[in-house]
Amino acid sequence: MSEEIEDHRLLNASENEPFSSVLERRVSRRSIMRGGLNVAAVSMLAGFGLTACSDDDNDNVSSSDGDRAAAMMLAFEALEGSQQDAVVVPGASSSQGSAALTAGAAAATSGYTAQVVMPWGTPINNNGQAWNQNLAFTPEIQANSVGMHHDGMHNFPISDDTASSNFIMALNNEYIDQLALFDVISTGVAPQGYDYDAESRRLDRNDQPRAADDSRTEINAHGVTVVELRRNENRVWDVVRSSQYNRRVTSATPCELAGPVAGSDYVVTAYDNTGMSTRGTNNNCANGFTPWGTYLTCEENWPNVFRKDSGRAADDNRLGIPTGSTRYGWETSAGDATESADEFARFNATPTGETAAEDYRNEPRTFGYIVEIDPYNATSRPVKRTALGRFRHEGCWPGKLVEGEPVVFYSGHDSRNEYIYKFVSDAVWNPADANTAGATTDRLAIGAKYMDAGTLYAARFNADGSGEWLELEPDTIVPASAGSRYAGMTLASALGLEAGDRAGIIIHTCDAADLMGATPMDRPEWGTVDPVSGEVYMTLTNNSDRLPEGQSPTFSNGSSIEEPGSAYDEAPVNAANPRVNNNDGQVIRWVEPSPGDTRFSWDIFVFGALGTDSEADDYNRSSLTAQNYFSSCDGLWYDDRGDGQGILWIETDTGGTDVTNDQVLAVVPQGLSKGDNASVIHEGNQAQLKRFAVGPNGCEVTGIFATPDKTALFINIQHPSNWPIDDSGSNTPDATVEPSGNVRPRASTVVIQKADGGQIAV
Ligand code: FEO
Ligand code: CA
Ligand code: CA
Repeated sequence: MSEEIEDHRLLNASENEPFSSVLERRVSRRSIMRGGLNVAAVSMLAGFGLTACSDDDNDNVSSSDGDRAAAMMLAFEALEGSQQDAVVVPGASSSQGSAALTAGAAAATSGYTAQVVMPWGTPINNNGQAWNQNLAFTPEIQANSVGMHHDGMHNFPISDDTASSNFIMALNNEYIDQLALFDVISTGVAPQGYDYDAESRRLDRNDQPRAADDSRTEINAHGVTVVELRRNENRVWDVVRSSQYNRRVTSATPCELAGPVAGSDYVVTAYDNTGMSTRGTNNNCANGFTPWGTYLTCEENWPNVFRKDSGRAADDNRLGIPTGSTRYGWETSAGDATESADEFARFNATPTGETAAEDYRNEPRTFGYIVEIDPYNATSRPVKRTALGRFRHEGCWPGKLVEGEPVVFYSGHDSRNEYIYKFVSDAVWNPADANTAGATTDRLAIGAKYMDAGTLYAARFNADGSGEWLELEPDTIVPASAGSRYAGMTLASALGLEAGDRAGIIIHTCDAADLMGATPMDRPEWGTVDPVSGEVYMTLTNNSDRLPEGQSPTFSNGSSIEEPGSAYDEAPVNAANPRVNNNDGQVIRWVEPSPGDTRFSWDIFVFGALGTDSEADDYNRSSLTAQNYFSSCDGLWYDDRGDGQGILWIETDTGGTDVTNDQVLAVVPQGLSKGDNASVIHEGNQAQLKRFAVGPNGCEVTGIFATPDKTALFINIQHPSNWPIDDSGSNTPDATVEPSGNVRPRASTVVIQKADGGQIAV
């Protein structure tokens, strides 16, 4: 996401010790850190107790271990930073692409190409319309074209034989750029309901209602795009127009509810009095996938498309449902003569009827979930798997699969000082449920088996490097250690719910995690799992604007910290929350003895650093340099190559810094061990973290996977300011070429391939 849709409020008023504070305490115990996760991981996997990783005697293991020479080497020269309207990759042949290479870079023949594929507006069937710079989008054109602002994505094989040249792509379209959607900059004409200031290039809402078709076009630009992609003999990738798999899921598509919340009173609306369904998925940020071949799309900054001016409940406040207005004003199209089935009215959750069955007071409670989509069946309905919790889900990642053990999924709540969660299935993994390309299996039925029944946990990180998954069930007892006046009560009782109300626990997921003493984190973004070791990596992107020491927090709604659901305007600094700013973020990792275990051991993998002179010397804790400065890490992917070694890919979302535009970095993590520093990446080994690609000006780089043969790496360029080139209607131009003038920007997928067709990065 860009800062434009980032919700900067701090909505967690619990007094739980924040991760920043836990980390400071851990870092101060320097000797503990020397053993590193490798020692702890090996011990844990062998079934040992968690105390081993807080054993101060780990030093000797660390010193003898050293940085093992990795058998798998990254065989590209790290890029310098870049600030241009083009994607930069190692050894690109275009003049623009090679400009930012370090001296002595590889010649073009051994270098890489970067091609635009499926940019926003690409028709996915014959009801779409070929792109041109002046194309006027209608609801119908957008519903039949690739959505806007690409984010998480995943590939699904159509046949195992062709999986690296032809597959189904499922792609999130997180949010929209109204300037580009309505071609405002070149026409100077604002959509109804907005005033346009050309100098600042800003649209500001006025008191006119939104035109119904404009709202529909925007609703249709959100959601998910599913298309078949194919590579031709020239290694050019493009959408297979009108493939049986192609479809759009938008913020209006009917979706099923499943799991504890489905059918409960919490989700009864005028649309569905039974509480079994809703319409649309929204602000789909990162993603996930299941071992049985389905796509998981994750609802992140959805609260701001709703408003609720009265009749508010604790969860409305805790999740930040606005009052008075919404992000895009879709609800102002309500009452238009063409409105169908309250398609706009539903975005205003203010009660208007006698009961919930007559209005949309519960509509926001049908959002905030992990949504499962069967990419192989274009007529199947998406299913919201409520058992995995309700919050601002960044993404959802399966843990290591072990036959006969539960299937687990990790998910982070991307807001300041929110939590990391883990879902553990009741059903144990049966390899017969693994995806078979081309099979007519009912994949959503398998999803129901593993994702509708299970236990949700929130994470507590301890300063000694141990951690605990805290159960969130109605009868879970609130611990005294959380320091809460609710200690000793059941969670259901503490939250004012009926005994055994599992739906209520899910609706109030964050409050339940508050009560259990979960650790507030610095904005969890993507996770990824090393499939061999089971180590889980997760980005904590940043957490800024805490109040300086000595200042007291203020509250936007006049409430106080004692009141559940109260919200800080800014995060306070106090004994438990001591750092004013974490501007650049870090990657953490943890490992558990087995998938269903409630204990884990954690560590810092790498700290971000901006690379500007203004930072204090001790800020750059991983000793990054010009070849790997990064800030606001976000996307993450563990590439399983190298006989169990793998490559960790890291993407960034700063919108650009003084040093570089947003980027992709790579590192082989296995074999790295700590020095005396606080993170696995440190002065002695930081050169192994290498910048692989840089995006165009203004963008965020997000979404990532490679084909099974690892010859093509797919990434997404979101919200570029002036890119890609307009190539005579082509949907596949060279991503490394700068436009000669101003173009209508298009978020897009980019495929990076080696010019010689070999594996990327090695
Ligand atoms: Fe949509 Fe947390 O990024
Ligand atoms: Ca993100
Ligand atoms: Ca982000």
